Amino acid sequence: MSNDDLDRNRRHFLTVATAVTGAVGAGFVAVPFISSLKPSARAQALGAPVEVPIGSLQLGEMIKVIWRGKLGFILRRTEGMLGRLANHDGELIDPNSEVIEQQPDYTANATRSIRAEYLIVEGACTHLGCAPLKDFEVRPAKHWDGGFSCPCHGSKFDLAGRVYKGWPAPTNLRVPPHRFVRDDLILIGMDTGAA
Ligand code: FES
Repeated sequence: MSNDDLDRNRRHFLTVATAVTGAVGAGFVAVPFISSLKPSARAQALGAPVEVPIGSLQLGEMIKVIWRGKLGFILRRTEGMLGRLANHDGELIDPNSEVIEQQPDYTANATRSIRAEYLIVEGACTHLGCAPLKDFEVRPAKHWDGGFSCPCHGSKFDLAGRVYKGWPAPTNLRVPPHRFVRDDLILIGMDTGAA
């Protein structure tokens, strides 16, 4: 694919497949738009990486995106959210991101991210693929530091997408290849160049 083709794909995807919303937890899923495209455009859109503008994403907010037919979450974590990540390592299956298939090398760190504020994960439970629900409210009495809960069989993930022990999901949520094009723009689905 030439650079021109890639740029065209990115621009096209930008217009049909992503949006940043102002409401906490609200998101935009592009499936209806993709299904309405002509077959050639749909194939192109489903195969392309996606640029996601994040300039309007506020601390504590999450948006949903679709790329290559997959659901993804982008969460802008607060200092409080990041601070709670260290509270529960002993309750996690893979606290240090040692299952290498679940993230690129450059996110195998304590926050599973390039920039600690931004968590980018696939929205597919690693048990049977259901979309986990955001569950950010802290519940000290239940030792819950906020994260994601799977509605299908109850698997729990923290705010870095790391899976808790005792549930059927075996691995952390997958971090897709991505990079920051600019401070306010993320490219998901491709990480060539500087991550
Ligand atoms: S699909 Fe998520 S726990 Fe089964």
